[in-house]
Amino acid sequence: MSETSIEKAKEKAAEKVLEYLHGVEVIGIGTGSTILKVIEKMSREGDIFKQKLYLASSYDTMIKLSKLGFRVIPSFFTGVKPEIYVDGADEVDGNLNLVKGRGAALFMEKILAYFSEKTFFLVDYTKLVDILGSKKPIPVEVVPYAASYVYEELEKMKLNPRVRYAGKGKDGPVITDLGNIIIDLYVKVSDPSSLELQLKNIPGIVETGLFVNLADKVIVGYPNRVEVLTR
Ligand code: A5P
Repeated sequence: MSETSIEKAKEKAAEKVLEYLHGVEVIGIGTGSTILKVIEKMSREGDIFKQKLYLASSYDTMIKLSKLGFRVIPSFFTGVKPEIYVDGADEVDGNLNLVKGRGAALFMEKILAYFSEKTFFLVDYTKLVDILGSKKPIPVEVVPYAASYVYEELEKMKLNPRVRYAGKGKDGPVITDLGNIIIDLYVKVSDPSSLELQLKNIPGIVETGLFVNLADKVIVGYPNRVEVLTR
């Protein structure tokens, strides 16, 4: 499984989703490398896509859309909801439940996904798994004030928590666009729905990267074809 075959697979998925976006006026846009391909393809199509309205799931996506001349509108107080939300994902299981949040944008992503009429998630074929958490950690977004308590609680629950660190460009933990930190859980999740409820019950956890029953369609890209899965 080479880097190039994954890139080709992402291209295929990105190409396919454009077919569903033609008659749509308000589009929610996710974050990440697959979505960047969608944005670039829409940009190449020109006015057809530039006349539509976009709600972005991160500052990164807002910047990318704005720089290319797309019309980005704020979500707060406008009441405008996306007709379709398009995003990538880190893992997808057989019930089309997802893990998201590699790029720390999971909170805004989940808000847009939840309030959209329809959602499409695009993945390359390597992201299909039997059990969520098999290849990627499950991120939770935590209010800094509660971080130590939450961390201790997650350890007690044997969820293998690790605070996510920025690496380049900033010392210390990753701070999300909404001012929170990310704790990654290194666990396999056999019942995503029940873990989601347990986590959301802990004060200080504002969102999780488990997207349960939120994907209407998943477009799986392979190097030479796509498959559209419907929940
Ligand atoms: C951003 O926080 C994430 O949820 C991304 O949407 C997800 O990780 C997919 O990213 P790639 O398309 O870069 O794999």
